[in-house]
Amino acid sequence: MKPPGQLQFSLFEYMTLHIAVRAALLGACGVPVWVLSRRFRPQLRFMWYAMLQPWRAAKTGQKERLDDFYNGQAEIYDATRDRLTQGRESMLSLCASHLRVLNASSPKRRLVWVDIGGGTGSNIELMDKYFPISSFDAVYLIDLCEPLLEVARRRFATRGWENVTILCQDAQSFELPEWSDVIQVGEGVDLITLSYSLSMMDGFHCVLDRVHQSLSPQNSILGVVDFYTNEEPHYRRKNFEKPADGSKQEFTWFSRWFWRIFFDLDHVCLSPHRRSYLQHKFGTVKCYEERNTYIPFLVQIPYYVWIGRPRSCDVSKISQSLKDSEVKGTNLVSNKATSLGTFAPPLNHYYYHVGTPWRMPYYDNQVHEQFRTYIYSFTWEDPEEDMRHLDLTADDSVLAITSGGDSVLHYAISAGPARIHCVDMNPCQGHLVELKLAAIHALEYDEFFAMFGEGRHPDFRNLLDTKIAPHISAAAYEFWRTNDDAFSSAFYLRGYSGWAIYLMGLVFKLAGASQHVKDLCNAENLQEQERIWWTHLRPVMLNPVVVALLKHPTFCWNALGVPLNQRKMLLDDGGVYEYVRDSLDPLASTYLLKTGAYFYLLGLLGHYTHESCPAYLTRSGFAQLKANSSKAINAFRLHTDSLLNVFQSLPDKSLTRVIVMDHLDWFAPGSADVDAEIENLFRLLDVGGSVFWRSAARTPWYNANFAAAGFQLTALGVRTGPEIAIDRVNMYASFFKATKIK
Ligand SMILES: C[S@@+](CC[C@H](N)C(=O)[O-])C[C@H]1O[C@@H](n2cnc3c(N)ncnc32)[C@H](O)[C@@H]1O
Ligand SMILES: *[C@@H]1O[C@H](CO)[C@@H](O)[C@H](O)[C@H]1NC(C)=O
Ligand SMILES: *[C@@H]1O[C@H](CO)[C@@H](O)[C@H](O)[C@H]1NC(C)=O
Ligand SMILES: *[C@@H]1O[C@H](CO)[C@@H](O)[C@H](O)[C@H]1NC(C)=O
Repeated sequence: MKPPGQLQFSLFEYMTLHIAVRAALLGACGVPVWVLSRRFRPQLRFMWYAMLQPWRAAKTGQKERLDDFYNGQAEIYDATRDRLTQGRESMLSLCASHLRVLNASSPKRRLVWVDIGGGTGSNIELMDKYFPISSFDAVYLIDLCEPLLEVARRRFATRGWENVTILCQDAQSFELPEWSDVIQVGEGVDLITLSYSLSMMDGFHCVLDRVHQSLSPQNSILGVVDFYTNEEPHYRRKNFEKPADGSKQEFTWFSRWFWRIFFDLDHVCLSPHRRSYLQHKFGTVKCYEERNTYIPFLVQIPYYVWIGRPRSCDVSKISQSLKDSEVKGTNLVSNKATSLGTFAPPLNHYYYHVGTPWRMPYYDNQVHEQFRTYIYSFTWEDPEEDMRHLDLTADDSVLAITSGGDSVLHYAISAGPARIHCVDMNPCQGHLVELKLAAIHALEYDEFFAMFGEGRHPDFRNLLDTKIAPHISAAAYEFWRTNDDAFSSAFYLRGYSGWAIYLMGLVFKLAGASQHVKDLCNAENLQEQERIWWTHLRPVMLNPVVVALLKHPTFCWNALGVPLNQRKMLLDDGGVYEYVRDSLDPLASTYLLKTGAYFYLLGLLGHYTHESCPAYLTRSGFAQLKANSSKAINAFRLHTDSLLNVFQSLPDKSLTRVIVMDHLDWFAPGSADVDAEIENLFRLLDVGGSVFWRSAARTPWYNANFAAAGFQLTALGVRTGPEIAIDRVNMYASFFKATKIK
């Protein structure tokens, strides 16, 4: 058998397949549609033109062919294409939001948009909603097909848009009338879009080269939406090394070939070359793959939405951002060859951006496959307690585990350290923190609180495309676009940690204690809170069934994120019952949930309130993060790698504070990796710098390793029993600091 990539059809086989496929589809869809309703008549007329009429078309030049193809369809074009050509609004709104951010960072003298293969001009009408046409100095619509342009002329005349110019030209060699006088060296067009036209164009290399010549080299956006099929992904066969901008969607052999053959007769080419040249020639800023639902379940044609920039735009800015972050080589290099002296990954591994480069570039790695979502949507450590011991100033350089990002945002609000490195192996934790940073930067307080306070925003998808997208990486955009229902009902009930909240709610519900949960969260003083806890909730929480559940290793890991090694440490100090008792009992009499002990409030209610929420969700904290062009959050650098790899990529004495949370609990006692991390920490910290950790054990085994490496240890809080809470979470048995004294 031949491998599928080399499959060849004879002309006869090819034609037979065509006729069969088309006749079957026409029969299956056309006849019932015709019978059902007159409303679908345009669809049927379109099917006739698209499927059967081309048999008659003379094989003459491109223009004659297009005129002939669209002649009978021009009037019905817009009515029939809404369902077929989806993703156009997505592409246009992304172009608009990215262009707006570019214009804000380096204001344009003139704003010019060229829509190539724009047909009936419906894109220009759609765009008006996202970027008013009157705010462009000029808009050009280029198309080769007279019948469609006739529709466009009428449309623009009706709308009274005088700055929109229609040019009947071949995209391979288009020329703007203004080029003779206005364009000077180094200037160019600000936005070019190609919607469902690249796949139709002969000479696509020339078209894209022409596009490249016309775009402003520094500050321009290119937007494409089109049908596609991909190559068989070779990275699946060879050793994994997926380019960041490669196609993610899986195709079966059948659908790959089916769509190519299906479109071929209309001179729409779905083979991967166009997209691959596009992504070679330009840098990818955003990319999203989807299937349209022309006929739900039956006909789902794959399309992609892609936003890019000329590669000339910001390679220098990217290397600058790497220097700024004091990273010698990013994890891009550290994964692969730490010995590489220079930072020189292949061009397509840079990620291009228009906003702030918070996220460090990373290779999509096999390890990441196991992380389909984030584990923690919030951080389960008390940053106020951290701040009492961190002694942070604006000169500090902090490294912490990314997690939900709540603690690091707290540090940024309280002290505004110069640099905050966040490290997490799970790319989705990075996507989450990118979203938080971008939302703080781009949204108003009320919108932001709806998302992360109430966990609910009815229009997240629109916020994402129109405001947030320019500030997040391609990978994060793709993640949130795929999960755009994350804020549709209850954000904090998603992810692994959401399971714990959900189950806790279920337990209280089954015990008929839901009202007491609400009362506890509403208690006005500690006496009342304590009374509700002891009389109504504690008996439910510490009943034998719940304790048995908490004892179960699978539950510990899947819902609470407590791995086996850590669970063992906790059991060595006593039973699960004692652990839970010591955690929860003192809290009820120490911190009021209603006015600031937001951790358990979230756990019980599934959302925060204005009175009780992390600092970044308060009006003043939010304002602080946004102040002075988001100075505090521009200190963030998000790494997607193991702590050890990131440690190895950072230069000596480049950090002053490191917060490793409970990460060391995860290792088996005596693990050599712990010593490797401690050794690196000693090298990375300046004299006077410290490492902080929490543990499920009162005296974790690895304390001795810190002491042996030359650190001076201080116990900042050790839980002794059920009497006193060491912080508002009180879930860890101890909190330690190790200082490098010489
Ligand atoms: C499928 S239509 C898309 C129209 C519109 N952009 C949309 O999204 O609905 C493809 C358009 O590309 C135009 N086209 C194809 N080849 C072209 C070429 N070489 N130069 C200019 N336009 C071309 C066709 O005339 C047609 O209007
Ligand atoms: C582009 O930036 C300039 C200068 O800040 C501003 O006056 C103009 O309104 C911006 N244009 C758009 C369309 O946002
Ligand atoms: C047309 O462009 C000019 C600048 O060339 C601009 O001042 C004007 O607002 C634009 N008008 C419309 C209706 O688009
Ligand atoms: C913003 O910058 C100014 C001047 O540099 C400074 O005085 C002010 O405190 C800063 N504001 C915040 C909230 O950081």
